[in-house]
Amino acid sequence: ALVTTKEMFRKAYEGGYAVGAFNVNNMEIVQGIVDAAKEVRSPLILQVSAGARKYAKPAYLKKLVEAAIIDSDLDIALHLDHGDSFEICKQCIDDGFTSVMIDGSHLPYEENIALVKQVVEYAHARGVVVEAELGKLAGVEDEVNVKAEDATYTDPKQAVDFVKRSGCDSLAIAIGTSHGAYKFKGEPKLDFERLETITKLLPDYPLVLHGASTVIPEFVEMCNAYGGDIPGAQGVPEEMLRRAGSLGVCKINIDTDLRLAMTAAIRKYLHDFPAEFDPRKYLGVGRDAIRSMVRHKLVDVLGSDGKM
Ligand code: G3H
Ligand code: 13P
Ligand code: ZN
Ligand code: NA
Repeated sequence: ALVTTKEMFRKAYEGGYAVGAFNVNNMEIVQGIVDAAKEVRSPLILQVSAGARKYAKPAYLKKLVEAAIIDSDLDIALHLDHGDSFEICKQCIDDGFTSVMIDGSHLPYEENIALVKQVVEYAHARGVVVEAELGKLAGVEDEVNVKAEDATYTDPKQAVDFVKRSGCDSLAIAIGTSHGAYKFKGEPKLDFERLETITKLLPDYPLVLHGASTVIPEFVEMCNAYGGDIPGAQGVPEEMLRRAGSLGVCKINIDTDLRLAMTAAIRKYLHDFPAEFDPRKYLGVGRDAIRSMVRHKLVDVLGSDGKM
């Protein structure tokens, strides 16, 4: 069924695991993710960015997710990723999304709170839950480009005040992750002490980790071996994601790993079969690569398998 994240997060918190939130942009991506979750009986969050809405058109994405629910019989939440205004959140709520993110992380503190409150008021009146963000991730997120030096980690005490005053249902925090394929220059490092403090100060409260792709070396190497050029890509080690999931983190956002898996498989296919030009052939192997990658995430990293 189409559900909110309330019950999902409650169970994930108690079970010490996390629910995967995967970005969707077309049919093959939706099917790859949902087929994996169906195989291992995992709850899912499918999230749509402003860019995804622009690429695929909102009505198509909504119908694809509805079709996925019918086909899989899973509990799936439909979430707006990085909403940057009250208006886009309202549109998604009116369209039937069960969860929206209002990302005011770039705003001054009080303005962030005021914006979140406005969205919470509209959303809660309609049974929809709201994710907010406090602190800044490094890297590129949609049209906002935050330089690494400007990245500021979430202040634990401020997080408590923020949650209480804004009324948000979950909070995205900054502890050293970033969006995209280039997360660390040297050794990967996340501020787990900070995460433990936030978890302690906000007991039973679901936290969200953005920029949480592993940047799986196998797919980076496959891209590079078949004409790609993505040198030095590096993501969050799986062990760190497991540790985050055992703490207050209940939602782990993944987009880059989907992009890499699909692109790697398609690059290899087109190289190996240069005479093929049926899109179903190469999109099919892209979808398969997503399915097996997501299955691995659900079972070995997030621990959400069998939780449906
Ligand atoms: O956080 C950003 C997500 O990866 C979505 O990316 O805005 O290019 O769709 P996008
Ligand atoms: P990645 O770029 O690490 O996949 O992060 C995705 C994300 O946070 C979407 O909101
Ligand atoms: Zn994000
Ligand atoms: Na958790």
